[in-house]
This record gives sequence, structure tokens and C-alpha cells, in this order.
Amino acid sequence: MKIAVLGATRGMGRALARKLAQRGERLFLLGRNPLELERSARDLEAHGAPVEVGTAHCDLLDPDSFEPALEAADRALSGFDTLIVTAGLFATQDALEADSAARARLLSADFSHTVQLCELARERLLARGGGTLCVFSSVAGERGRKPVILYGAAKAGLSHYLEGLDHKFRAHGLRVVTVKPGFVKTGMTADLEPPPFAGEPDAVADIVVRALDRGTPVVYAPRIWRLIMLVIRALPRAAMRRIAF
Ligand SMILES: NC(=O)c1ccc[n+]([C@@H]2O[C@H](COP(=O)([O-])OP(=O)(O)OC[C@H]3O[C@@H](n4cnc5c(N)ncnc54)[C@H](OP(=O)(O)O)[C@@H]3O)[C@@H](O)[C@H]2O)c1
Repeated sequence: MKIAVLGATRGMGRALARKLAQRGERLFLLGRNPLELERSARDLEAHGAPVEVGTAHCDLLDPDSFEPALEAADRALSGFDTLIVTAGLFATQDALEADSAARARLLSADFSHTVQLCELARERLLARGGGTLCVFSSVAGERGRKPVILYGAAKAGLSHYLEGLDHKFRAHGLRVVTVKPGFVKTGMTADLEPPPFAGEPDAVADIVVRALDRGTPVVYAPRIWRLIMLVIRALPRAAMRRIAF
């Protein structure tokens, strides 16, 4: 595979990129921080990437950076066949209710800008017969929940968009893999109390690599979150109003 990754400098994206490097995939890193990008590229080469890992600037808060970033990935990989987007923002519901600028940033990064980036990648992939878009959404998008109303709304919109892409373009060769992590221990969740069934980035990466190979349209990671969300989706509104989850 020839894979461009946005978000490989930390957390689940880093774990996933390392697994892909170890099995010899060609990688190109997109991100907003040049120093971290360079460090991550060298790290992936040390983990077995078969050829030099290139990098390009891509900031989810700056849609003007998307087209040049994808163009750079295309040039370096002679046409990427897979785009993985793990980059995203998180903030607590309390913080987002109190800060309209933070709210605007999160809603843009996690929904509209991610969708715009995917649209540009979709055009490129379809023009050459297809490929794979693998995007990290969240279980937070499965139900309106008190602690993640705004973050969950952005991820719900993103999941919905990705589902529609799968329905429309699968037959044209576009494979869409939507990853729905539950709580995973990364920098993003470092300030939160881990619930039971909290996952580790490495285990998530194994699940995502398998999903990439199979073209699985929706994958929960850790897997137990599929069952947890099945229950949560079935709860009546009266119960959702009472619980803190
Ligand atoms: N951790 C969880 O429990 C959890 C649960 C559900 C869903 N998710 C989702 O899973 C994905 C990965 O989460 P994670 O926990 O691995 O996050 P993380 O450890 O915080 O890593 C986030 C990554 O996104 C990049 N990023 C952030 N803002 C960016 C921007 N404006 N432009 C470009 N890149 C940017 C970061 O790059 P820098 O190094 O430049 O900051 C970093 O590589 C996210 O979409 C998240 O919403 C996470």
C-alpha cells in the first residue's frame, strides 16, 4: 500500500503508522508541526519503513493546506492509494460550553474540515480507479450524551458522511473504513479518568490494520465498545437524562 497519514505524530495514529511501517508499507506523513513530523518520519524508518518517509504541512484548522499536502503525498508516493486521518481535537463539554472560539475550532476540525479533506482525497482516489479512506470518528457520535454533546455531534456528522460515501462509491472502488474508538489511553484522554474497558493505542492499531486489509466499513476499537454502544443506543431518553455517561 502507499499510505498518506494525517495524525501519526502521537496517540493511535503513531501506533498505527508504526505497525504499517513494520510490515513494509510505504508511508507519507501529513501534519501541522514540522519538527514532530520529521521526528515521526525517522521513527517510522527505524521501525522498518522500506523507503524514506516524506512529510508535508497539513493543518486541520487550515483547509488551504489540504490540496498542497495531498499533492505532495501524490508526488512522493507516485499516487497514494490510502489516506488515513487520525488527527482530531477533543475538549470537555464544560470547556466547550465556556469558550466559543474553542467550540468553533473543534467543530471545524472534527467535522467540516475533515470532510473537506476527505472530499479532496475522494476525487483523487476515484480519478485513478479507487483506493481507501480510513478515518477516525468516535463512539461519541453514536448517541447524544451529556459529557460529549459538541464533540459527539461533530463525530456523528463525520460518521454519517463516511457512511454515505461508502454507500455511494464502494461500487466505484472507494473503500471507506470508519474507525470508532471507545476510550483509548492517549494524550487526548490523559486528563480524564479511564473508564472500565479503556483501550491501548497498540491494540487499536492491530484492529485497524485488519480492517484496512479487509475493507471493513465500520470498526469499533476496542471491540467491546460495539456492545457497549448497542446498549447505549437502546436506552430510552428518560434513562439518558438520568445517567452521566
Ligand atoms: N483517545 C480516545 O479515547 C478517542 C476516543 C474516540 C475517538 N478518538 C479519535 O481518534 C483520533 C485519534 O485520537 P488520539 O487519542 O490518538 O489523539 P492524540 O493522541 O491527541 O493525537 C492527535 C493527533 O492529531 C494531530 N492533530 C491535532 N490537531 C491537528 C491539526 N489542527 N492539524 C493536523 N493535525 C492535528 C496531532 O498532531 P500534533 O502532534 O501536531 O499535535 C496528533 O498527531 C481522533 O480523531 C480522536 O477524536 C479518540
